[in-house]
Amino acid sequence: MSKVNVVLGTFYGDEGKGKIIDYLSEKADASIRCSGGNNAGHTINVDGKKYAFHLIPSGILNRDTKAIIGNGVVIDPKVLIQEIEELKAGGYTVDNLYISDKAHIIMPYHVMMDKLQEELRAKNKIGTTARGIGPCYSDKFERSGIRVEDFISDKFEEIARNNIEKKNKIFAMYGKEKLDVESTVAQYKEYANYLRKYVVDSVDMLHELLESDKDIVCEGAQATLLDIDFGNYPFVTSSNPTIGGVCTGTGIGPKYIGEVYGVLKAYSSKVGEGMYMTEQDNETGDLIRELGHEYGTTTKRPRRCGWLDLVALKYAARINGLTGLAINHVDTVGKLDKIKLCVAYEYDGEKTMRFSTNNDYLNKCTPIYEEFEGNFGDLSGIKRREDLPENARKYLDRIEEIVKVPIKFIGTGADRNDMIIVE
Ligand code: GDP
Ligand code: IMO
Ligand code: MG
Repeated sequence: MSKVNVVLGTFYGDEGKGKIIDYLSEKADASIRCSGGNNAGHTINVDGKKYAFHLIPSGILNRDTKAIIGNGVVIDPKVLIQEIEELKAGGYTVDNLYISDKAHIIMPYHVMMDKLQEELRAKNKIGTTARGIGPCYSDKFERSGIRVEDFISDKFEEIARNNIEKKNKIFAMYGKEKLDVESTVAQYKEYANYLRKYVVDSVDMLHELLESDKDIVCEGAQATLLDIDFGNYPFVTSSNPTIGGVCTGTGIGPKYIGEVYGVLKAYSSKVGEGMYMTEQDNETGDLIRELGHEYGTTTKRPRRCGWLDLVALKYAARINGLTGLAINHVDTVGKLDKIKLCVAYEYDGEKTMRFSTNNDYLNKCTPIYEEFEGNFGDLSGIKRREDLPENARKYLDRIEEIVKVPIKFIGTGADRNDMIIVE
């Protein structure tokens, strides 16, 4: 029986999942996105060309790999069509794309509602990506969502009309402009016609692949500390980017899961509001942001930057049952003179490795740092862990020693090939 290897974010997103997925997909028969929507931005650099995917699985660049958008994903059809068109313009046929019939559709009223809710939260705003993600998942669970299978059916017009009219009542209540029913329905019927040919029963497709011993890789979006259950609520996204979301977002049981790779950066970053224990809201954070080009792939917002937090990483390892780590941006952190690594928290005068997303607890914790020598030098072309400079090896060894999960991938640059695969 073949297994599904999984790639998940361990922190607040943007750890470089796209690059790891791209690598794993090369050898896989299929790659599948299981949760989130176009709040994600996954970057892959190939031969100096940069691809940023929001909805299409990062495995798409490998033409022989089926790229599936799973049932747990919420799809903005306009954004998906744009991505398909961009790929076609770049010479890709996109014949290897498949969309689950059970995924949900983001409608314009979801985006409008996302913005309205942020406005109403005022000083307590979450800092969402304003892509309609939360409202779309809310409708899914409230059972008024629009599934892809309905989107491409004759039922769509009536469902959409009803939904828009209901939402318009809410917009009117808050003095907001209404959404035009007729033009929206007409536009979205066009989108449905465009996307129809990509729609499949993804559950059946996945199991057919598994039963024929095909290799599948699952692409997580967002990350552990953004998880609706295990993240820093309410400063989270509206799905489960952790391991459970892989099963519910694709329709496979735990027995099919093989390796679970947790992706992290050799430092850390976050977009949006909420607690961030190792944030460096100072010159160091500014320097990391510049060295790592830490500006959002989706919203272009400058990312908050800081040191790697092993207490949080250990939590991610526990929640997801990580079997391996993928550490990116080792080159970036190696440009600093000194690197700090959070190895524990101090709570009530005691050293602890306990992480909790409870803000009262975190507010009473102070990170304990160990300092490492930076200046790793040029890492380009290095293909074996043992060939890394001593300072880099010491830093990586310490991470592995504390978290007790083996390092399987080491990112030494942004390009697809800038990676050490640890045997
Ligand atoms: P994702 O959302 O987890 O896929 O990550 P993003 O694509 O949003 O952000 C990761 C950024 O880091 C992208 O700009 C990547 O090109 C870049 N990147 C990934 N790995 C490395 C690495 O090892 N070194 C450097 N310098 N850049 C990297
Ligand atoms: P990838 O897959 C970083 C953050 C937003 C905000 C919070 C809620 O590229 O790692 P949402 O729009 O989801 O309701 O916003 O979650 N967020 C991300 N931050 N990377 C992402 O995805 C993110 N997806 C959502 O910034 O704080
Ligand atoms: Mg990203």
